[in-house]
Amino acid sequence: MSDICKATKNNIKRAAEIIRTGGLVAFPTETVYGLGADVYNAKAVAGIFAAKGRPAFNPLISHIADIDFLSEYVQTDERSVALAKRFWPGPFTMVLKRKDHNGAMDLACAGLPTATVRMPNHPVALELIRESGVPIVAPSANRSQTISPTTAEHVEESLGGRIDMILDGGACSVGVESSIVDVSSSDVVLLRAGGIAVEEIEDFLGQKVIISHGEPDRPSSPGQMLRHYAPSHKLRINVEKPEEGEFYIGFGWQNNADLNLSPDGDLNEAAANLFAYMRLADEMAGDKGIAIAPIPETGLGLAINDRIRRASYNK
Ligand code: TXA
Ligand code: MG
Repeated sequence: MSDICKATKNNIKRAAEIIRTGGLVAFPTETVYGLGADVYNAKAVAGIFAAKGRPAFNPLISHIADIDFLSEYVQTDERSVALAKRFWPGPFTMVLKRKDHNGAMDLACAGLPTATVRMPNHPVALELIRESGVPIVAPSANRSQTISPTTAEHVEESLGGRIDMILDGGACSVGVESSIVDVSSSDVVLLRAGGIAVEEIEDFLGQKVIISHGEPDRPSSPGQMLRHYAPSHKLRINVEKPEEGEFYIGFGWQNNADLNLSPDGDLNEAAANLFAYMRLADEMAGDKGIAIAPIPETGLGLAINDRIRRASYNK
């Protein structure tokens, strides 16, 4: 039986011991909960794919706690180090060329010549990584193709009984996954919109970021698969006026919403509420399904619209 444990110092130590000995631990980050394993333990990494029911050969993000560690296993340059210093710890993930040809990492990297790295901005995640002494590879802690978890209870609902431990650090503050940026060539390519707005990355670099939408059946980032974040009800997006009987998720001031992502129209607040509200809506909706109000396509709105567009995609 997996178990929700409060993220006390002692439980983080126990969790680190589980990671070191090849087990699986779900832990909080500022974006969503991750399902963690030792990046160098291929058997443990395989266990992640099995627990999630995820198609294999899907590269995973390594989580580190110290920028200096970066140069040990990926090729860094001035630009990637500057990006790391600017956006870490935080919801920002870089795809970089591998340097470490340790075959044990092949599964985590899905056999690609690149590795994908981020430093999460959450004290529990950082302490767990430091205690474990290895980078922790972690996809979102949910069954494949279901909504990402932003609380320990969501993890339990999805993966309970399949993993060794769930560290409970409360609700995630950002609420959508990290932005993934491929910096392994001279271009900067956004593979997944996420918790850092693309405008911020462009402002910092003084360079345009190429937005990649991927090909639905051959995505370079499987987060680009069309139907990825899925409630079980039909979902309509960009809805100003819901139909009779539809469960309506609003944004900004609205008096007819069943739930409102942010009555003040704050996109950061909306991102933090998004996945929890999609779950609630899925539980409460009837035959008519769910409708979501239009969300502006700026700042974190890009990530929010990306997730709800995928969730609305018909089977
Ligand atoms: O916020 C997050 O990023 C969370 C927390 C736990 O850190 N993690 C997360 O991981 O969302 P996951 O595995 O659910 O999504 C990572 C996405 C996947 O779609 C994966 O295919 C893509 O990143 N990815 C990873 N490495 C890649 C690479 N080298 N090239 C292309 N896509 C890559
Ligand atoms: Mg995921």
